[in-house]
Amino acid sequence: MNRINVKACGVIALLAFAVGILSNPPAARADTTANAACSACHDAASSSHARGVHGKQDCSKCHSGTEKHLANPGPETKPARPGAAACQVCHVKDANRMNWAFSDHKKAGLNCAACHSNHTPKVVKGADTAKYKDANSALCASCHKEVTARFNMFSHHPLKEGGISCVDCHDPHTDKKQALTAKTETCTKCHQAVRGPYTMEHPPVTEDCLTCHNPHGSPIKKLLTVAQPALCLRCHSLADNRHAVGAAAGARITGAALRNCTACHGGIHGSAFDQHLRY
Ligand code: HEC
Ligand code: HEC
Ligand code: HEC
Ligand code: HEC
Ligand code: HEC
Ligand code: HEC
Ligand code: HEC
Ligand code: HEC
Ligand code: HEC
Ligand code: HEC
Repeated sequence: MNRINVKACGVIALLAFAVGILSNPPAARADTTANAACSACHDAASSSHARGVHGKQDCSKCHSGTEKHLANPGPETKPARPGAAACQVCHVKDANRMNWAFSDHKKAGLNCAACHSNHTPKVVKGADTAKYKDANSALCASCHKEVTARFNMFSHHPLKEGGISCVDCHDPHTDKKQALTAKTETCTKCHQAVRGPYTMEHPPVTEDCLTCHNPHGSPIKKLLTVAQPALCLRCHSLADNRHAVGAAAGARITGAALRNCTACHGGIHGSAFDQHLRY
């Protein structure tokens, strides 16, 4: 512990020395003198630097190479724009950022700054707020055009209407598999009525809602991936059960294949009473 403190003090002293404010107490340093040295040329007060949660952070926490730059300010010595690693010095500890290393967006080569404006991080970039009610979805839409287009389909979640956001279902800082470990849970946190446990479960429902629904949009009502009865006939064969049409003299329910299966099997997501999921 002591060793770390000594080391940390060394680093702080070095930085402080570099900006020539060795005599200032550390607490006052961050938001005043050190940044003031930079602000003499970079209009921090009127720029996004001074606003938002990072306003009080030391410039050099995010921009490396500030010593050289200060000694000889100009384009040749300009400090680097921070990559994800610089942000994670502070943000690796919080749960959401922990999985960044495995995230789809890191794998795709994106940096934090691809989505977060440099110094006012909540103002996400590229947000077409005229089209979308929430800035987060507008941000996602600026890159994911195909997925976003599905929200224009006949059946869709109310994204453009402002009733749901991409980030209600996705965490952009992680891998989609981790974000959706329990895919059904992603859905049932809002759709409580569908959540079990039911005495009579329908296996595909407890496994993955996406077997039957497209979360982004579908030309078929209720976000269904395929229309009934084909939706059900992918797994259920009517020929060898009581729905057997025609030939079998005892066929009890004929013509089932021509109807909406859920007209009779209304308990499609599970039932407390009926093994045939009728209610
Ligand atoms: C004496 C004036 C001066 C001071 C003091 C100064 N800079 Fe600069 N800085 C410049 C100039 C000039 C450039 C080059 C501008 C350009 O390339 O458009 C620059 C460029 C930069 C860039 C790169 C901008 C980009 O477009 O990538 C960053 C980041 C930066 N400075 C940060 C700092 C920080 C942090 C400090 C304080 C440690 C600081 N500057 C102090 C003059 C200064
Ligand atoms: C929380 C991290 C963070 C802090 C603290 C920070 N910056 Fe930045 N800064 C960034 C990021 C990220 C970018 C680049 C954004 C991009 O690539 O689009 C940036 C860009 C810049 C630029 C380029 C022009 C621009 O606005 O995009 C300058 C100049 C700059 N910073 C100076 C400073 C100065 C001076 C300070 C201290 C007053 C400071 N920064 C503090 C993260 C930070
Ligand atoms: C020196 C530490 C430090 C560094 C480096 C840093 N941050 Fe922060 N950041 C903070 C603090 C402190 C807060 C406010 C407390 C919180 O929400 O955790 C914050 C908050 C945020 C927020 C939430 C904003 C809000 O309005 O709620 C975002 C987004 C963010 N930072 C992104 C970044 C990005 C992107 C970088 C790299 C360019 C970065 N941070 C680098 C300390 C830091
Ligand atoms: C693909 C876009 C994207 C990238 C890349 C990204 N973020 Fe975010 N980030 C967001 C969005 C959108 C939110 C708002 C989420 C919400 O409100 O639920 C957010 C929120 C945050 C917050 C606020 C705290 C919170 O959980 O609400 C922090 C801190 C943060 N991001 C840090 C980072 C850091 C650090 C990186 C890089 C390692 C990064 N982000 C990369 C889109 C992104
Ligand atoms: C700057 C562009 C950009 C932004 C903004 C962006 N993404 Fe991405 N996203 C990508 C790229 C590139 C990939 C890599 C795979 C691909 O090309 O689809 C990706 C991958 C993904 C994946 C995994 C896709 C798969 O096929 O495995 C999801 C989920 C995702 N993004 C959701 C989001 C969400 C939600 C937002 C808004 C918070 C967002 N993205 C914002 C560029 C972006
Ligand atoms: C109702 C929840 C929900 C909403 C809202 C939502 N998604 Fe998804 N999204 C999912 C699920 C679930 C998956 C499938 C993940 C898997 O296969 O593991 C997915 C998959 C994806 C993929 C991977 C490629 C694909 O088509 O399967 C991308 C990219 C993506 N979503 C982006 C977005 C964007 C951008 C938005 C907002 C415009 C958004 N999503 C809104 C639930 C949602
Ligand atoms: C943030 C809350 C939220 C989450 C998470 C969510 N939904 Fe929804 N869902 C809604 C809202 C709001 C509606 C619209 C309800 C209405 O119009 O009455 C809706 C409607 C639906 C509908 C009916 C569509 C129609 O045309 O009537 C289906 C099916 C659906 N969601 C499936 C899912 C699935 C599958 C998931 C998980 C991938 C999911 N939802 C996650 C909020 C959510
Ligand atoms: C075996 C296919 C299947 C699976 C798996 C499935 N659903 Fe459905 N769901 C349907 C059908 C079919 C309808 C339409 C019922 C109707 O039209 O009466 C529907 C309708 C809905 C509706 C609209 C409201 C309603 O009850 O009519 C919501 C919300 C919904 N499902 C959510 C979910 C969620 C959440 C999951 C995962 C936990 C899920 N579904 C899994 C087939 C399925
Ligand atoms: C007219 C109402 C009705 C329609 C429409 C209907 N079913 Fe049924 N289904 C029933 C009844 C009633 C039973 C048997 C209940 C009993 O024997 O107590 C049943 C039983 C079943 C069983 C259990 C079979 C067995 O042998 O135990 C399956 C699987 C099934 N239906 C699937 C479907 C599918 C798939 C569709 C759509 C193609 C469908 N049903 C359409 C009323 C219907
Ligand atoms: C991904 C495959 C799959 C899909 C799609 C699917 N089911 Fe099922 N279903 C199953 C499995 C597995 C069981 C449990 C095993 C069994 O009893 O046959 C089951 C059980 C049932 C039962 C109870 C069987 C009984 O013995 O009474 C009914 C009724 C039923 N499903 C109706 C439907 C209807 C209606 C649809 C379309 C909306 C549908 N299923 C879509 C896989 C599926």
